[in-house]
Amino acid sequence: MKIELKDKKVFFENQGLRKEIHPFWLRERVNGDNFVDKKTQQRLFDPTDLEENIKIDNINLSKEILEVTFNDGTYTKLTIQNILKEFSNINEVKYIDKVEWDSSLKDFNNFDFKDNFFEDQEMYKALVNFYKYGFVIFKKVPIKNNFIVNFANSIGSIRRTNFGEFFDVKSKPNPNDLAYTSLPLAPHTDNPYRNPVPCIQMLHCIENKVSGGFSTLVDGYTVTQKLKKDFPKYYKILTEIKVRFQFVDQSIVLEDWAEMIQLDENGAFKQVRFSPRLDFVPLIDKEKLELYYSARKKISQLYNSDKFRIEFKLSSGDLLMMDNYRLLHGRTTYDANEGNRFLQGCYIDYDSTEGKLKHLKRKFNL
Ligand SMILES: [Fe+2]
Repeated sequence: MKIELKDKKVFFENQGLRKEIHPFWLRERVNGDNFVDKKTQQRLFDPTDLEENIKIDNINLSKEILEVTFNDGTYTKLTIQNILKEFSNINEVKYIDKVEWDSSLKDFNNFDFKDNFFEDQEMYKALVNFYKYGFVIFKKVPIKNNFIVNFANSIGSIRRTNFGEFFDVKSKPNPNDLAYTSLPLAPHTDNPYRNPVPCIQMLHCIENKVSGGFSTLVDGYTVTQKLKKDFPKYYKILTEIKVRFQFVDQSIVLEDWAEMIQLDENGAFKQVRFSPRLDFVPLIDKEKLELYYSARKKISQLYNSDKFRIEFKLSSGDLLMMDNYRLLHGRTTYDANEGNRFLQGCYIDYDSTEGKLKHLKRKFNL
């Protein structure tokens, strides 16, 4: 990648492709104290107020700097590296490659909590691991009631829901969700009926004195890649049909329509939703429904298969952070008479983790 000049025009060259950079694009990036606030990096001018017919009057290119004078009299020095950065489209988060994993995964990405953890380089490593594997386990987290709130808000901001700012996961009488019983929970994603679905779930183990109650995780990314390869027709229909997910209790009715496997605008993996107690398939053609039900059964078998599931016990002081768009989670049954099993949970969104990760990357010059 490089920048070139010709006849007062700026060109960007990448792998033999040469394109002119619009003068207005450069004009918008004019910096200097009169144009950009040093502290916030925010513009002090409104580019929509500028004349549309911006042209370059004078131009000079050195190894590191592009100097431009525009026809409205503005002069600026732009760093070549910064211009190239914008074209390389490097986003530190999207370009962390996902690692596909199944039941053979042995390294559970543990990180010990310590003082000033959230501003430490170790937190950066933990977040990178989170984006690679879809989860990370923090150990030795203080076992204080509600500490989950401090933890989540030290990375970003809690995403409050109708379950509250955080929720207690323990068996209780008259539960409004099966999570609050001692029943086993098959792999599922949380809250597919919300729009938007909470991105990340945190579970902090305060106490776990039962012999069962193991936590389970499945990589939805691995499973959907497997489905795509071995059962392309099933994969296709699960990426196409939107189903209705619903949650109903005494005070609220929540509903959203979405695909079980959602792809992004490039056809790449974006999100899985799976909660077979809450999904309602639309009334479509019988033949299509036939295929849909077979596809749903197959993906359910894969999600529930031993081949893809890891199982581990959360101990007091462990905090599990998992990607609710990528992973499915569940737990094995337990006997509430054996003792207490008490977790506290909450949600945060991707802007929190991405913002923190980029901040730490900048801070440690990584
Ligand atoms: Fe859940």
